[in-house]
Amino acid sequence: MENNKRPETMERITTPALAEAFIREQVAALREQIGDGKVLLALSGGVDSSVVAALLIRAIGKNLVCVHVNHGLLRKGEPEQVIRVFRDEMNANLIYVDAVDRFLDKLAGVAEPEKKRKIIGAEFIRVFEEEARKLEGIGFLAQGTIYPDILESDGVKAHHNVGGLPEDLRFELVEPVKFLYKDEVRVVGKALGLPDNMVYRQPFPGPGLGVRCVGAITRDRLEALREADAIVREEIGKLPSVPWQYFCAIPDIQSTGIKDGKRYMGWIVVIRAVNTVDAVTATVPEIPFSTLCTIRDRIIATVPGVNRVAWDISEKPVATIEWE
Ligand code: XMP
Repeated sequence: MENNKRPETMERITTPALAEAFIREQVAALREQIGDGKVLLALSGGVDSSVVAALLIRAIGKNLVCVHVNHGLLRKGEPEQVIRVFRDEMNANLIYVDAVDRFLDKLAGVAEPEKKRKIIGAEFIRVFEEEARKLEGIGFLAQGTIYPDILESDGVKAHHNVGGLPEDLRFELVEPVKFLYKDEVRVVGKALGLPDNMVYRQPFPGPGLGVRCVGAITRDRLEALREADAIVREEIGKLPSVPWQYFCAIPDIQSTGIKDGKRYMGWIVVIRAVNTVDAVTATVPEIPFSTLCTIRDRIIATVPGVNRVAWDISEKPVATIEWE
Protein backbone atom coordinates (compact mmCIF):
# COMPACT_ATOMS: atom_id res chain seq x y z
CA MET A 1 0.00 0.00 0.00
CA GLU A 2 1.20 3.49 -0.80
CA ASN A 3 2.65 5.38 2.11
CA ASN A 4 0.49 8.42 2.64
CA LYS A 5 1.47 9.39 6.14
CA ARG A 6 3.91 12.21 6.80
CA PRO A 7 6.87 10.74 8.70
CA GLU A 8 6.68 11.77 12.34
CA THR A 9 10.35 12.68 12.32
CA MET A 10 9.95 15.11 9.44
CA GLU A 11 10.90 18.62 10.52
CA ARG A 12 8.62 21.48 9.51
CA ILE A 13 10.28 23.38 6.63
CA THR A 14 10.33 26.98 7.80
CA THR A 15 13.70 28.37 6.68
CA PRO A 16 15.67 28.62 3.42
CA ALA A 17 18.29 26.25 4.88
CA LEU A 18 15.68 23.59 5.63
CA ALA A 19 14.22 24.11 2.15
CA GLU A 20 17.66 23.61 0.59
CA ALA A 21 18.08 20.37 2.53
CA PHE A 22 14.63 19.18 1.39
CA ILE A 23 15.47 20.07 -2.22
CA ARG A 24 18.78 18.17 -2.08
CA GLU A 25 17.07 15.11 -0.63
CA GLN A 26 14.20 15.21 -3.10
CA VAL A 27 16.42 15.71 -6.13
CA ALA A 28 18.37 12.59 -5.13
CA ALA A 29 15.17 10.64 -4.44
CA LEU A 30 13.62 11.73 -7.75
CA ARG A 31 16.73 10.68 -9.71
CA GLU A 32 16.63 7.34 -7.93
CA GLN A 33 12.90 6.81 -8.67
CA ILE A 34 12.95 8.04 -12.26
CA GLY A 35 16.39 7.08 -13.58
CA ASP A 36 16.42 7.82 -17.32
CA GLY A 37 12.61 7.80 -17.46
CA LYS A 38 10.41 10.57 -18.75
CA VAL A 39 7.88 12.36 -16.56
CA LEU A 40 4.70 14.13 -17.57
CA LEU A 41 3.27 17.00 -15.52
CA ALA A 42 0.15 19.12 -15.91
CA LEU A 43 1.53 22.54 -15.02
CA SER A 44 -1.20 25.01 -14.12
CA GLY A 45 1.13 27.72 -12.84
CA GLY A 46 -0.28 27.37 -9.33
CA VAL A 47 2.24 27.12 -6.51
CA ASP A 48 2.04 23.33 -6.06
CA SER A 49 2.52 22.26 -9.67
CA SER A 50 5.12 25.00 -10.18
CA VAL A 51 7.20 23.78 -7.25
CA VAL A 52 6.95 20.20 -8.51
CA ALA A 53 8.05 21.36 -11.96
CA ALA A 54 11.01 23.30 -10.58
CA LEU A 55 12.11 20.32 -8.45
CA LEU A 56 11.88 17.96 -11.40
CA ILE A 57 13.69 20.36 -13.73
CA ARG A 58 16.51 20.38 -11.20
CA ALA A 59 16.48 16.59 -10.92
CA ILE A 60 15.95 15.42 -14.50
CA GLY A 61 16.00 18.51 -16.76
CA LYS A 62 14.45 17.91 -20.17
CA ASN A 63 13.17 14.47 -19.20
CA LEU A 64 10.32 16.35 -17.57
CA VAL A 65 7.58 17.24 -20.04
CA CYS A 66 5.28 19.98 -18.71
CA VAL A 67 1.89 20.52 -20.31
CA HIS A 68 0.24 23.86 -19.67
CA VAL A 69 -3.39 23.88 -20.74
CA ASN A 70 -4.88 27.33 -21.23
CA HIS A 71 -8.61 26.75 -20.78
CA GLY A 72 -9.44 30.40 -21.13
CA LEU A 73 -10.41 30.71 -17.47
CA LEU A 74 -7.00 31.71 -16.14
CA ARG A 75 -6.26 35.11 -14.70
CA LYS A 76 -4.73 37.91 -16.71
CA GLY A 77 -1.09 37.23 -17.58
CA GLU A 78 -0.96 33.70 -16.17
CA PRO A 79 -0.27 31.64 -19.30
CA GLU A 80 2.36 34.19 -20.36
CA GLN A 81 4.06 33.91 -16.97
CA VAL A 82 4.16 30.11 -17.09
CA ILE A 83 5.84 30.28 -20.49
CA ARG A 84 8.28 32.98 -19.38
CA VAL A 85 9.31 31.33 -16.12
CA PHE A 86 9.48 27.72 -17.22
CA ARG A 87 10.32 27.77 -20.92
CA ASP A 88 12.41 30.94 -21.11
CA GLU A 89 14.07 31.11 -17.70
CA MET A 90 14.25 27.48 -16.58
CA ASN A 91 14.69 26.05 -20.05
CA ALA A 92 11.98 23.47 -19.41
CA ASN A 93 10.42 21.15 -21.91
CA LEU A 94 7.03 22.90 -21.97
CA ILE A 95 4.08 22.18 -24.20
CA TYR A 96 1.61 25.07 -24.28
CA VAL A 97 -1.88 24.09 -25.34
CA ASP A 98 -4.26 26.84 -26.38
CA ALA A 99 -7.59 25.15 -25.64
CA VAL A 100 -9.54 28.37 -25.07
CA ASP A 101 -12.07 27.87 -27.86
CA ARG A 102 -12.61 24.24 -26.97
CA PHE A 103 -13.53 25.02 -23.37
CA LEU A 104 -15.61 28.09 -24.10
CA ASP A 105 -17.55 26.31 -26.85
CA LYS A 106 -18.32 23.42 -24.49
CA LEU A 107 -19.41 25.85 -21.77
CA ALA A 108 -21.61 27.99 -24.01
CA GLY A 109 -25.12 28.25 -22.60
CA VAL A 110 -24.34 26.19 -19.47
CA ALA A 111 -25.50 28.05 -16.38
CA GLU A 112 -25.52 25.38 -13.66
CA PRO A 113 -22.38 25.68 -11.48
CA GLU A 114 -21.73 21.97 -10.92
CA LYS A 115 -22.29 21.23 -14.58
CA LYS A 116 -19.78 23.94 -15.47
CA ARG A 117 -17.25 22.40 -13.06
CA LYS A 118 -17.82 18.94 -14.55
CA ILE A 119 -17.37 20.15 -18.11
CA ILE A 120 -14.16 22.01 -17.21
CA GLY A 121 -12.74 19.02 -15.30
CA ALA A 122 -13.67 16.48 -18.01
CA GLU A 123 -12.41 18.64 -20.86
CA PHE A 124 -9.16 19.22 -19.00
CA ILE A 125 -8.57 15.47 -18.76
CA ARG A 126 -9.43 15.06 -22.44
CA VAL A 127 -6.97 17.75 -23.55
CA PHE A 128 -4.26 16.39 -21.28
CA GLU A 129 -4.89 12.85 -22.52
CA GLU A 130 -4.58 13.97 -26.15
CA GLU A 131 -1.25 15.62 -25.41
CA ALA A 132 -0.01 12.57 -23.48
CA ARG A 133 -0.85 10.32 -26.44
CA LYS A 134 1.31 12.40 -28.75
CA LEU A 135 4.35 11.76 -26.55
CA GLU A 136 6.57 8.73 -26.56
CA GLY A 137 8.36 7.01 -23.73
CA ILE A 138 6.54 8.60 -20.78
CA GLY A 139 6.88 6.40 -17.70
CA PHE A 140 5.79 8.66 -14.87
CA LEU A 141 3.11 11.17 -14.04
CA ALA A 142 4.01 13.99 -11.64
CA GLN A 143 1.37 15.67 -9.50
CA GLY A 144 1.35 18.63 -7.15
CA THR A 145 -0.44 16.72 -4.41
CA ILE A 146 0.23 18.33 -1.02
CA TYR A 147 -0.45 16.94 2.47
CA PRO A 148 -3.83 18.62 3.00
CA ASP A 149 -5.02 16.98 -0.26
CA ILE A 150 -4.22 13.59 1.28
CA LEU A 151 -5.78 14.49 4.63
CA GLU A 152 -8.99 15.65 2.94
CA SER A 153 -9.10 13.17 0.11
CA ASP A 154 -12.45 14.55 -0.97
CA GLY A 155 -10.98 18.03 -0.85
CA VAL A 156 -11.75 20.82 -3.25
CA LYS A 157 -8.69 20.06 -5.31
CA ALA A 158 -9.64 16.45 -6.06
CA HIS A 159 -10.72 17.13 -9.63
CA HIS A 160 -7.63 19.23 -10.21
CA ASN A 161 -5.37 16.24 -10.23
CA VAL A 162 -5.33 14.04 -13.26
CA GLY A 163 -6.86 11.00 -11.59
CA GLY A 164 -9.44 10.62 -14.33
CA LEU A 165 -6.97 9.47 -16.99
CA PRO A 166 -7.65 6.18 -18.79
CA GLU A 167 -5.92 3.02 -17.54
CA ASP A 168 -3.13 2.98 -20.14
CA LEU A 169 -2.06 6.50 -19.19
CA ARG A 170 -1.96 5.86 -15.45
CA PHE A 171 1.78 6.03 -15.15
CA GLU A 172 3.69 5.60 -11.92
CA LEU A 173 3.07 8.67 -9.78
CA VAL A 174 5.75 11.15 -8.80
CA GLU A 175 4.56 13.34 -5.92
CA PRO A 176 7.57 15.05 -4.35
CA VAL A 177 5.64 17.53 -2.18
CA LYS A 178 2.93 15.21 -0.95
CA PHE A 179 4.01 15.47 2.70
CA LEU A 180 4.30 19.25 2.69
CA TYR A 181 1.86 21.79 4.01
CA LYS A 182 1.17 24.85 1.88
CA ASP A 183 3.49 27.16 3.82
CA GLU A 184 6.31 24.65 3.38
CA VAL A 185 5.66 24.39 -0.36
CA ARG A 186 6.05 28.17 -0.54
CA VAL A 187 9.38 28.14 1.35
CA VAL A 188 10.64 25.44 -1.02
CA GLY A 189 9.36 27.37 -4.06
CA LYS A 190 11.19 30.47 -2.94
CA ALA A 191 14.41 28.47 -2.46
CA LEU A 192 13.97 27.07 -5.97
CA GLY A 193 13.98 30.61 -7.33
CA LEU A 194 10.33 30.86 -8.38
CA PRO A 195 8.99 34.44 -8.57
CA ASP A 196 7.14 35.79 -5.54
CA ASN A 197 3.85 36.23 -7.37
CA MET A 198 3.89 32.51 -8.13
CA VAL A 199 5.05 31.41 -4.68
CA TYR A 200 2.67 33.62 -2.71
CA ARG A 201 -0.28 33.27 -5.03
CA GLN A 202 -3.64 33.24 -3.39
CA PRO A 203 -5.70 30.05 -3.77
CA PHE A 204 -7.39 29.88 -7.15
CA PRO A 205 -10.08 27.31 -7.96
CA GLY A 206 -9.37 24.70 -10.63
CA PRO A 207 -12.32 25.92 -12.73
CA GLY A 208 -10.77 29.36 -12.43
CA LEU A 209 -12.70 32.39 -13.57
CA GLY A 210 -15.39 29.96 -14.76
CA VAL A 211 -17.03 30.00 -11.31
CA ARG A 212 -16.76 33.78 -11.06
CA CYS A 213 -18.35 34.51 -14.41
CA VAL A 214 -21.65 33.60 -12.82
CA GLY A 215 -24.21 31.68 -14.90
CA ALA A 216 -23.67 30.93 -18.57
CA ILE A 217 -20.21 32.22 -19.54
CA THR A 218 -19.99 34.62 -22.44
CA ARG A 219 -16.67 35.71 -23.89
CA ASP A 220 -17.28 39.42 -23.42
CA ARG A 221 -18.32 39.08 -19.76
CA LEU A 222 -15.39 36.72 -19.13
CA GLU A 223 -12.97 39.28 -20.58
CA ALA A 224 -14.51 42.01 -18.42
CA LEU A 225 -14.08 39.74 -15.40
CA ARG A 226 -10.43 39.03 -16.23
CA GLU A 227 -9.65 42.74 -16.56
CA ALA A 228 -11.57 43.70 -13.41
CA ASP A 229 -9.92 40.86 -11.46
CA ALA A 230 -6.45 42.13 -12.40
CA ILE A 231 -7.39 45.58 -11.05
CA VAL A 232 -8.87 44.18 -7.82
CA ARG A 233 -5.79 42.04 -7.21
CA GLU A 234 -3.40 44.87 -7.96
CA GLU A 235 -5.10 47.41 -5.70
CA ILE A 236 -5.91 45.11 -2.76
CA GLY A 237 -2.44 43.59 -3.15
CA LYS A 238 -0.96 46.99 -2.26
CA LEU A 239 -2.46 46.93 1.24
CA PRO A 240 -0.01 46.39 4.12
CA SER A 241 -1.84 43.24 5.11
CA VAL A 242 -3.56 41.38 2.28
CA PRO A 243 -6.62 39.20 2.79
CA TRP A 244 -6.37 35.41 2.31
CA GLN A 245 -8.31 35.54 -0.95
CA TYR A 246 -9.48 38.56 -2.96
CA PHE A 247 -11.03 38.67 -6.36
CA CYS A 248 -14.25 39.67 -8.06
CA ALA A 249 -17.25 38.05 -9.66
CA ILE A 250 -19.60 39.26 -12.37
CA PRO A 251 -23.17 38.03 -11.97
CA ASP A 252 -25.22 37.27 -15.02
CA ILE A 253 -27.50 40.27 -14.61
CA GLN A 254 -27.40 43.80 -15.90
CA SER A 255 -28.14 47.05 -14.17
CA THR A 256 -29.04 50.46 -15.44
CA GLY A 257 -26.32 52.98 -16.11
CA ILE A 258 -26.33 56.46 -17.58
CA LYS A 259 -23.91 57.89 -20.10
CA ASP A 260 -24.24 61.14 -22.09
CA GLY A 261 -27.75 61.51 -20.69
CA LYS A 262 -28.81 58.10 -22.01
CA ARG A 263 -29.73 55.05 -19.97
CA TYR A 264 -28.18 51.73 -20.85
CA MET A 265 -27.65 48.30 -19.33
CA GLY A 266 -24.27 47.15 -18.00
CA TRP A 267 -22.65 44.54 -15.77
CA ILE A 268 -21.88 44.66 -12.07
CA VAL A 269 -18.44 43.82 -10.73
CA VAL A 270 -18.66 42.44 -7.21
CA ILE A 271 -15.50 42.73 -5.11
CA ARG A 272 -14.92 39.82 -2.75
CA ALA A 273 -12.21 39.58 -0.09
CA VAL A 274 -12.12 37.04 2.73
CA ASN A 275 -9.96 35.80 5.54
CA THR A 276 -10.03 32.19 6.60
CA VAL A 277 -7.83 29.49 8.05
CA ASP A 278 -9.27 26.45 6.33
CA ALA A 279 -11.86 27.85 3.87
CA VAL A 280 -14.61 26.18 5.92
CA THR A 281 -15.62 29.47 7.52
CA ALA A 282 -14.57 32.92 6.35
CA THR A 283 -14.77 36.47 7.60
CA VAL A 284 -14.69 39.71 5.66
CA PRO A 285 -11.78 42.04 6.40
CA GLU A 286 -12.06 45.81 6.29
CA ILE A 287 -10.86 47.30 3.03
CA PRO A 288 -10.03 51.04 3.16
CA PHE A 289 -12.73 53.05 1.41
CA SER A 290 -10.06 54.80 -0.66
CA THR A 291 -8.94 51.43 -2.06
CA LEU A 292 -12.52 50.51 -2.93
CA CYS A 293 -12.92 53.87 -4.69
CA THR A 294 -9.70 53.43 -6.66
CA ILE A 295 -10.86 49.99 -7.76
CA ARG A 296 -14.27 51.41 -8.74
CA ASP A 297 -12.75 54.26 -10.73
CA ARG A 298 -10.26 52.07 -12.57
CA ILE A 299 -12.86 49.45 -13.44
CA ILE A 300 -15.45 51.95 -14.62
CA ALA A 301 -12.85 53.83 -16.69
CA THR A 302 -11.22 50.82 -18.33
CA VAL A 303 -13.42 47.72 -18.34
CA PRO A 304 -15.93 47.73 -21.21
CA GLY A 305 -19.51 46.86 -20.35
CA VAL A 306 -19.31 47.45 -16.58
CA ASN A 307 -21.29 50.31 -15.07
CA ARG A 308 -21.52 49.36 -11.40
CA VAL A 309 -19.13 48.11 -8.71
CA ALA A 310 -20.34 46.51 -5.47
CA TRP A 311 -18.62 45.05 -2.41
CA ASP A 312 -19.75 41.69 -1.08
CA ILE A 313 -19.56 41.73 2.72
CA SER A 314 -21.12 38.30 3.26
CA GLU A 315 -19.43 35.87 5.59
CA LYS A 316 -19.18 32.10 5.30
CA PRO A 317 -21.49 30.65 6.46
CA VAL A 318 -23.94 31.31 4.98
CA ALA A 319 -22.37 32.66 1.79
CA THR A 320 -19.66 30.52 0.21
CA ILE A 321 -16.41 32.22 -0.70
CA GLU A 322 -16.98 31.79 -4.42
CA TRP A 323 -20.19 32.98 -6.01
CA GLU A 324 -20.83 29.54 -7.51
P1 XMP B 1 -16.30 27.99 -1.28
O1 XMP B 1 -16.79 28.80 -2.42
O2 XMP B 1 -16.83 26.59 -1.30
O3 XMP B 1 -14.72 27.86 -1.50
O4 XMP B 1 -16.49 28.66 0.05
C1 XMP B 1 -13.80 27.37 -0.55
C2 XMP B 1 -12.42 27.43 -1.19
O5 XMP B 1 -12.34 26.50 -2.28
C3 XMP B 1 -12.08 27.16 -3.50
N1 XMP B 1 -12.92 26.51 -4.52
C4 XMP B 1 -12.49 25.62 -5.40
N2 XMP B 1 -11.26 25.13 -5.64
N3 XMP B 1 -12.14 23.81 -7.37
C5 XMP B 1 -11.09 24.23 -6.62
O6 XMP B 1 -9.98 23.77 -6.87
C6 XMP B 1 -13.40 24.26 -7.21
O7 XMP B 1 -14.32 23.88 -7.92
C7 XMP B 1 -13.58 25.21 -6.17
N4 XMP B 1 -14.66 25.87 -5.70
C8 XMP B 1 -14.24 26.66 -4.67
C9 XMP B 1 -12.43 28.60 -3.27
O8 XMP B 1 -11.69 29.47 -4.13
C10 XMP B 1 -12.09 28.78 -1.82
O9 XMP B 1 -10.71 29.02 -1.64
